[in-house]
Amino acid sequence: MAPGEPVSSFDPRRVRADTPLLRRVINERPITYLDSAASSLPPRAVIEAMSRYYEMRHANVHRGVYQTANEATAIYEGAREAIARFINAPAGANEIVFTKNATEGFNLLAKSWGHKNLKAGDVVLVSEMEHHANIVPWFQLREVNGIEVRFIPVNDDFRLDLTDIESLMEGVKLVSLTAMSNVLGTINPIKDLAALAHRHGALIAVDAAQSVAHSPSDVTDLDVDFFIFSAHKMLGPTGLGVVWTREAILDQMPPFLGGGGMIADVRVDGYTPANGPSRFEAGTPPIAEAAGLGAAVLYLEGLGMANIVEHERNLTSDALSRLASEFDGRVRVIGPSDTHSRGGVISLDVEGVHPHDVAQVLDQFAVCVRPGHHCAKPLMRRFNLAATARASFGPYSLTRDTDVLIEALHHALTMFG
Ligand code: ALA
Repeated sequence: MAPGEPVSSFDPRRVRADTPLLRRVINERPITYLDSAASSLPPRAVIEAMSRYYEMRHANVHRGVYQTANEATAIYEGAREAIARFINAPAGANEIVFTKNATEGFNLLAKSWGHKNLKAGDVVLVSEMEHHANIVPWFQLREVNGIEVRFIPVNDDFRLDLTDIESLMEGVKLVSLTAMSNVLGTINPIKDLAALAHRHGALIAVDAAQSVAHSPSDVTDLDVDFFIFSAHKMLGPTGLGVVWTREAILDQMPPFLGGGGMIADVRVDGYTPANGPSRFEAGTPPIAEAAGLGAAVLYLEGLGMANIVEHERNLTSDALSRLASEFDGRVRVIGPSDTHSRGGVISLDVEGVHPHDVAQVLDQFAVCVRPGHHCAKPLMRRFNLAATARASFGPYSLTRDTDVLIEALHHALTMFG
């Protein structure tokens, strides 16, 4: 089944029933999980794929010749193929590198590709709405190579301010942007920005950590150069991230970490790195996690990404209109107020109540949200906020989750207001 293909049988209640953690009862209330932007909940199929590996197929990969070792290698490489299919990688699995998480993916990009290709004065263009993972590695490279890190501003309407983009592009060698803000929910026009970057002779990297489980991903159609995300944001396990780049770029990138598994040869006078993704996968890789990710891809494909988009858009639209009408302006959404080019991430600023207090009151109702700066401090500064309380949807979310959120927010306002 092609990514994004609709499946008429999509039913969020079935997804819910497939997700063991949603059976939890906390403070005598059923859990209301609204923290999928921080980490999504794995369905039973993902958990079982990992258990099956440990119970029946546990062995290291790319080393043994015995049956279970071959099976483990097939599982690991099968996950690479599943991801290549899921994001429509033009040259397939050879373009997929497994990392520890999306953050390590950006470090790989900066410390391998960036270190080799960027020199003093070259510009990396990011935006004010980036996660620290797409800022700090560039600052670190600036300390070494003297590059410039330039920021696209964010408008008062919580979208990129592209008014001066042509002049911002001067000297840019890499544009590195989030596809969807983990704070605002804003979805950025990546396809247009990829065309713009290429017109200026620059490459474009995409932080797809937030978008990958909430919209179809097609790197061929987007015509981007790097696409980075993590498994645990797409119903998969923690401890596994993905970097996709074109084969021609990957082949020219030096290794990032050294050790076993990433070499073609080692002599007393030096080493020759392996070709392909394994050059970047030093040491025993996350094999069980790859088994889980492979199952997560199958599960998402079964649901149909187009169905997930529609479901989450309906939930977001309903939540935004109720948050606007129920609280006389005392609960402010820090993000676009309509569902045009925005996803199901809803950051809240509750009048007179600190986001940590909001989250603590919500916890009494078994509502899980994330308070804090969401690893996006430049964005927080842009809007003069120290923190927000962030609710976010997944394919298992229902309108009744919003009902409980609103009930709990009323309670927080009564307690502190
Ligand atoms: N980056 C994740 C978040 O936004 C952890 O919560």
